[in-house]
Amino acid sequence: MTTKQKVFELLTQNAGSYVSGEKLAQACNVSRTAIWKAVKAMRNEGFMVDGSNNNGYTLLNLQTGDILSKQMIEYSLAKSFPEFSQSHIEFFETIDSTNTYAKKLAAQDASKYHQAVIAAETQTSGRGRLGRSFVSPQGTGVYLSLIITPQGGITQPAFITASAAVAVCRALKKLYGVEPAIKWINDIYVSNGGKLKKCTGILTEGITNFETGRIESAVIGIGVNLAPSDTIKNSEAKDIAGFVTLAPRIDKGLQNTQPPTRASLIAEIAGQVFRILDEPAKKVITEYKSLMFLIGKKLTIHPLIGDDKTAYKATAIDLDKNAGLIVKLPDGTKKTLSSGEVTLHNSLK
Ligand code: BTN
Repeated sequence: MTTKQKVFELLTQNAGSYVSGEKLAQACNVSRTAIWKAVKAMRNEGFMVDGSNNNGYTLLNLQTGDILSKQMIEYSLAKSFPEFSQSHIEFFETIDSTNTYAKKLAAQDASKYHQAVIAAETQTSGRGRLGRSFVSPQGTGVYLSLIITPQGGITQPAFITASAAVAVCRALKKLYGVEPAIKWINDIYVSNGGKLKKCTGILTEGITNFETGRIESAVIGIGVNLAPSDTIKNSEAKDIAGFVTLAPRIDKGLQNTQPPTRASLIAEIAGQVFRILDEPAKKVITEYKSLMFLIGKKLTIHPLIGDDKTAYKATAIDLDKNAGLIVKLPDGTKKTLSSGEVTLHNSLK
């Protein structure tokens, strides 16, 4: 841990009070001049550090607002997942789409982006699945794309998508105490006032090497709504869109404590995704099944590939080992879907 990271950690732990330069110097085992330099570097990076070497320092961001920055993400990732602290991280105040940018990076030189995190405060052309747009307002959500480039390429794209959904559920559960549910294949829902609403969308895209024909990297784009937003209320997503509520924290009497920062959520999601990719497929599929809420439900299936794109009705009965959805048609025949869009019966959303 660098002096700057250590100072950040100590100020975070003592949020609301001033910590003397002397105390910081002792804890970091460096001179007071080194502390002053670390604070100066933090200020240059956008942290609002109040105080001086004589009066002590305090971090204002934690009291006044949830500021996103590359350093905050870097710090949170190194703290919660030291094994991924060397990941490539980029942060933008505004970008068209973190997925578009991440795809460009991976296409330039996939070997440089074994594990990368690209995050933004807001996106002007956020992309959703099936060519839809993903509304990405400032201050009410997190928008990130992870690049993964495993050795040997990507052999099971559907599994990557399913794993990402499970990893995001783990992150939301851990930080917010919510009980997330997955709508196949990768929409994540949470209860908003007793009704399941979509709080997270995931768009996974592959980068293919034309010479080998192999999928070298995957870009996993994740958008999480953390608060209601007028922009979303006025968009086509308004009927299904919800947000990750703080209700479980209130139930636990934690309403007067700081909720998780968006940087810590980005880091938690990134770490959980990077980590889950090394877990046995069977374990991940079992967890996915326990989280999905479509089994037993009547669905309308909208095929995406093949000549016949006519929608049809079926009942979801199981998930196979590759995250394919097994459905039963009205005539009793079974079908396994590896792609497509499903909606709950009678709903076109
Ligand atoms: C969906 O629900 O259809 C998927 C939405 C995926 C949105 C995320 S936000 C970060 C990343 N950048 C994008 O342009 N899209 C993904």
